[in-house]
Amino acid sequence: MCGIVGYIGEKNASDVLIGGLEKLEYRGYDSSGIAVCQNNTISVKKFQGRLSVLESYLQSNPVEGCCGIGHTRWATHGAPSDKNSHPHSSDDGLISLVHNGIIENYQELKSMLSEKGYQFRSDTDTEVVAHLIRDCYHGSFLNAVTDAVGQLKGAYALAIVCAAEPDRLIAVRKDSPLIIGLGQNENFIASDIPAILEYTRDVYLIDNGTVAVLSSQNVQLFDEQQQPIHKDIFHVTWDADAATKAGYPHFMLKEIFEQPNAIENTLRGRINSDQKEITLDKFNLSKQDFDKIDKIWIVACGTAYYAGCIGKYLIEKYARKPVEMQIASEFRYANPIIGNRTLFIAISQSGETADTLACMRLAKEKGARILAVSNVVGSSVTREADDVLYTWAGPEIAVASTKAYSTQVICMMLAALKMGQLSGELADDGADRIFQTLPQLAQHASSALEMSGFVSELSKKITGLSSIFYIGRGLDYYLALEGALKMKEISYVHAEAYPAGELKHGPIALLEKGSVVVALCTQSGEYLEKIISNIEEIKARGAFVVAIAQKKCKKVQYVADDIIWIDDIEDDAAIIPAVIILQLLAYFTSINKGCDVDKPRNLAKSVTVE
Ligand code: G6P
Repeated sequence: MCGIVGYIGEKNASDVLIGGLEKLEYRGYDSSGIAVCQNNTISVKKFQGRLSVLESYLQSNPVEGCCGIGHTRWATHGAPSDKNSHPHSSDDGLISLVHNGIIENYQELKSMLSEKGYQFRSDTDTEVVAHLIRDCYHGSFLNAVTDAVGQLKGAYALAIVCAAEPDRLIAVRKDSPLIIGLGQNENFIASDIPAILEYTRDVYLIDNGTVAVLSSQNVQLFDEQQQPIHKDIFHVTWDADAATKAGYPHFMLKEIFEQPNAIENTLRGRINSDQKEITLDKFNLSKQDFDKIDKIWIVACGTAYYAGCIGKYLIEKYARKPVEMQIASEFRYANPIIGNRTLFIAISQSGETADTLACMRLAKEKGARILAVSNVVGSSVTREADDVLYTWAGPEIAVASTKAYSTQVICMMLAALKMGQLSGELADDGADRIFQTLPQLAQHASSALEMSGFVSELSKKITGLSSIFYIGRGLDYYLALEGALKMKEISYVHAEAYPAGELKHGPIALLEKGSVVVALCTQSGEYLEKIISNIEEIKARGAFVVAIAQKKCKKVQYVADDIIWIDDIEDDAAIIPAVIILQLLAYFTSINKGCDVDKPRNLAKSVTVE
């Protein structure tokens, strides 16, 4: 985890670095720091805590210099503290660097370097790299970096400065995200595009094993043997405004309200309801390809995993192919059954989640066809997959995922529908209904957003609770999982999701007078009577039930204490308006409790370590 930036040019480096780090703070906020070169010395300033601590220090103690690096940290090795903050430097101050990733062989390297007399001042894995580069330095900065990097095992994006060569920056990448921004008389390094978008739209998306040498005038790219490599420039078309709050108090609220627009973007050009045609740009699955597939895996983490669960349900329903789901951190170590007749779907908003990426590589090695569902163009999963379905949600900054989830669900609906057509298993009337519903989804999302005042009021009933339950059946169970995750992530209320019918096999023992249960009743078919009975069981234990139901499920009004109605919609698509209600419920509960909505404690947006 962590975010890195670098700048070389004519401006004051510390100003540019701080601006970039502000955009990357979602990647971690345990500490931050910068290192700036001036003449032949490197000035390092770093502090535990939010970026604001470093900013206020720099306001009264400015650092001069036009070349530097910066870091915002999410702790892995060593607790959050000043000494463990990046940049880390060699003993003599020749080398300073920032790192995102994990150096897996740092213990061996540390012993080797300690024997040679290098002094370690932190508990981090990163510090070994600073000493190692110093150890490899015999007059050439570039040689020192390439020699040192050849000895590293693990994942890294590194930005490095050298006091002896203050007119250049070096960056190198393996399995952690890295981009280079190309300006006029200035160049940039960053973990992610928004950090540099204020200055340039032309970037290099750096590949594994690439070493980038930046001066203010040019950027040279080399492979690990120092052979020059050519890379096409990627031109960013989205707007820097898209990465700011645009008047909303929090990124999360802004992103919740962006969903109608994001949904339009996800669907644009992909469906023709009259002809019942689906065009999935970079996912060209023919009937022959699909017939060869005997099993589908969906692997992801966090919210993306719950979007995958909806995908499993719909693919099995529409296409009648077996789909297995697995959490990415479990998948690799469970000896999964994969072969060349497997379709492997990796879902990842950022496209950089280390666990998901590792699973995808394993599946590829074993011959599976890989489909990536991601929000970030040029991210690692999209570059390494055979096929890509972009969610087109626009940048998501809040740690708690909202618009990424709804657009991932829509991508899964589209993929399931396509597969249903290819397999011939999707009944005509079912296809008709879904094709008619998809173009109305953005409108349904807008109607759900109109309930925000009511949801805000309702959230006051949850604010004082230490625990809350979410129940549902069928798709509503998967929705319950996402609703509970949102609640615990940002409001720190202990939230558990259960299949409604399973409650009586254990968890019902936890219910008492004063307990609150959110009952998802968006499925109007055979599930409705069943969940109504489950609500009765809950009420009999004295718990308070808040239901979310389609208007056509009107019987729910006789059993629930409070109801948030959503407009009638095809059951398979009800997830979209209903999840918006759950996002708002978590958001307002978090606000009522005074929590830091966009940066919940202990969490980070993009988890690039295993
Ligand atoms: C982290 C974030 C979650 C996110 C998950 C997967 O845990 O806090 O919000 O769902 O990573 O991220 P990805 O970028 O792979 O979708």
